[in-house]
Amino acid sequence: MASRLVCASCARTAAPGEPRATCACGGLYEVEHAPSALDPAHLAARRGPSGVWRFREVVDPDLDPRAVVTLGEGATPLHAAARLAAWAGVARLELKHEGRNPTGSFKDRGMTVAVSRARANGLRRLACASTGNTAASLAAYAAAGGLECVVLAPAGATSHAKLTQAQAHGARTLLVRGDFDRALALLREEAEAGALGIVNSIHPYRLEGQKTVVLELLEDLGWRAPDWIAFPAGNLGNAAAFGKALREAHAAGWIARVPRLLAVQAAGAAPFAAAFERGFDVLRPVRAETLATAIRIGAPASYARAVRALRETHGVAVAVSDGEILEAKARIDAAGIGCEPASAASLAGVRALAARGELARDAHVVCVLTGHLLKDPDTTAAWHAGELLPAAAGPRHPPTTIEATGAALRGALEGWGAGG
Ligand code: F0G
Repeated sequence: MASRLVCASCARTAAPGEPRATCACGGLYEVEHAPSALDPAHLAARRGPSGVWRFREVVDPDLDPRAVVTLGEGATPLHAAARLAAWAGVARLELKHEGRNPTGSFKDRGMTVAVSRARANGLRRLACASTGNTAASLAAYAAAGGLECVVLAPAGATSHAKLTQAQAHGARTLLVRGDFDRALALLREEAEAGALGIVNSIHPYRLEGQKTVVLELLEDLGWRAPDWIAFPAGNLGNAAAFGKALREAHAAGWIARVPRLLAVQAAGAAPFAAAFERGFDVLRPVRAETLATAIRIGAPASYARAVRALRETHGVAVAVSDGEILEAKARIDAAGIGCEPASAASLAGVRALAARGELARDAHVVCVLTGHLLKDPDTTAAWHAGELLPAAAGPRHPPTTIEATGAALRGALEGWGAGG
């Protein structure tokens, strides 16, 4: 056995074949790998269908490769974005586009691992609570792996596009009259008793898959680490996974120095940023509210391990307003790249920190865009119609309905400018 699970609360250990997602004491498991012989120089020769399983030695070395459920996740583009760098106030900026995964979000990287692992461990019914993307991802991977799944999403606060994905892939979709935090608590209470396998990011192998966001972007940069890695933060699974990836990559000598993590929250859902301001004394859950519904989370499950990640990377947590988020999104969209609202928090956070002088002007920053533009078309349409935060800055391109006549077309194009 090349890996073992260690409970972060009581230090109990378990084998990778453990079917329960969390320890009997309620604590979260962390995967500990024996040192592997994986050399980054060998990775180049391994460009297969999955950008996650290329890293199998540091993801799940014990899993029989024939047991993998994959949809061709990872291997996402890293876009250089000079205009956005100038707008944010930094010298060099790249956007790692996780929206280019099979179901349109970074969740697929963790889900291929958690679903493969859960199936190998004998589970037949998987479940998650979700603000939408985890639900869409689980539904797809469960379908691909021949498993049943149930997803719980907050009623009235989840993007239709994401819920539609879950239904299309055959999930039993439950809209809970409550928020995400309540839905996750409910699921955790019930799953303890039944044979439901929870694959929220409390599942240790979800984080192992999500580590590959960071490993891959470091590889994209020739293992020369940027100064900062910025990302939107909700339930804090990514914060935890990115911190673990950097810890392991540094310990293995893959990178010479550790980039700083910048966790960005929406101001109405910012218990982590608030705790950071107080020196991480204690987590004070909040009733979350934000237009960036993916990160509308008030009681993040991975708080303790995210604190560790920020401490180890000399990281920062910051909160930005919905107006700042939607302006950043409008600019990312207008650059031809595009992302869902929550994803744009990363760039909004970089700009806010640069404006405060806490992020050097000559810094090299990578922002992780966690989800695709088409994940939340209603918010995008409402923004361009001027219905959302009309006072916020940022480009708006509303459609115009015209009669089907040449005169109407010419009239609509008049005053549009010379163009190119
Ligand atoms: N960005 C997007 C697009 C997300 O969907 C999420 C989380 C996050 C960022 C935050 O990541 O939770 O690891 O801090 N979405 C979860 C879901 C909660 O259910 O889809 P985190």
